[in-house]
Amino acid sequence: MKNLLVTGGCGFIGSNFIRFLFEESDFKGRVINVDKLTYAGNPESLADVAERAGARYAFVHGDICDSVAMARVFDEYGVDAICHFAAESHVDRSIVKPDDFIETNIHGTYVLLQLARERMDRIKLFHHVSTDEVFGSLGETGFFTEETAYQPNSPYSASKAASDHLVRAYHHTYGLPVTISNCSNNYGPYQFPEKLIPLIILNAIEGKPLPVYGDGLNVRDWLFVRDHNTAVWEIMQRGRRGQTYNIGGRNEMKNIEVVGMICDLVEELAPPLPGGKKRRELITFVKDRPGHDRRYAIDCAKLEKELGWKPAESFATGLRKTVQWHLENATWISRVRSGEYQRWIEAHYGK
Ligand code: NAD
Ligand code: DAU
Repeated sequence: MKNLLVTGGCGFIGSNFIRFLFEESDFKGRVINVDKLTYAGNPESLADVAERAGARYAFVHGDICDSVAMARVFDEYGVDAICHFAAESHVDRSIVKPDDFIETNIHGTYVLLQLARERMDRIKLFHHVSTDEVFGSLGETGFFTEETAYQPNSPYSASKAASDHLVRAYHHTYGLPVTISNCSNNYGPYQFPEKLIPLIILNAIEGKPLPVYGDGLNVRDWLFVRDHNTAVWEIMQRGRRGQTYNIGGRNEMKNIEVVGMICDLVEELAPPLPGGKKRRELITFVKDRPGHDRRYAIDCAKLEKELGWKPAESFATGLRKTVQWHLENATWISRVRSGEYQRWIEAHYGK
């Protein structure tokens, strides 16, 4: 892999992946990061990495659905491997307005697959980053394995399921060398503050209400973002082509427990609230998400057995690092929330 195309590299997981590649892995090639810079993409997340990487890093402001622009990227940069993160990723947004999810997640993935297929002589790998949400919702017991039948419940997860099927079909029909990973909920630095953990951290710091959907007993299986990315990199290097790998931290938590832990950490690490108010008093139960999946839990035995992968962080250590990161990166946060970075993007890359 000399010229690795990373899509969505200005988003939460993609930017952490590129940071990991340059700063911690044995990757020796060049990264070409294609990102449309939607509300969720922020090139500032990689400004320091880009500077240090020099000619080994190229950023292209582009849309993966634009087949002409993407063909140019494949050929100008001699792309020989793809790690595909770009997507619309927020379930609540997909419920309100599914359009962009269908376009980017399904059509965009198709465009990339087709371009890769037309250049099979040099493409070594198409790695597709996907989600455990494609499997639907679990009852009180059991785990998602790679054999679990797909049963996506939201427009977001249905669009990701469709993209997974396309990737698998391009391997089965055309022999494109692919790998797919289905990961559980991520948290960590540079996550857009619409998702549960960064939203609750910031509201808790500022003394705002902490919205918990429904009864707060829905279960998610949390994984620190760096651990997701070490798994993706292992799969890309040593995973069997044509295979799917589940990634997860064996860390099931009820939402209300996660929110409680964040309250306690913020209480410990941030200045106290005026009037001695405690963060736990800010918890506010709100209307449930329509079609809200009850429980996700990943069985990642295949990844552990075949590739020897293990997460480095426990939820306690990862969450503490994440709260600390939010306290130390007020500028990134205020720029993302104020829309200032959107104006920066327009100044650098046009509207
Ligand atoms: P994110 O929303 O933070 O980032 C998505 C990035 O994709 C942004 O930089 C955005 O600008 C870019 N993008 C969107 N549409 C594009 C387009 N048409 N062309 C080019 N770029 C485009 O998402 P994330 O949380 O970093 O998720 C990354 C991937 O990982 C997604 O495929 C998601 O389904 C998957 N995933 C996420 C999680 C999670 O917990 N966040 C868990 C498992 C899998
Ligand atoms: O499981 C992997 C998926 O995890 C990824 O594929 C998605 O891209 C990612 O967004 C995430 O989806 P979720 O819907 O699980 O994440 P979210 O952070 O939106 O919500 C986590 C849980 O918290 C979920 O049960 C809904 C609940 N929630 C969320 C928000 C934003 C609340 O109770 N209050 C909130 O304000």
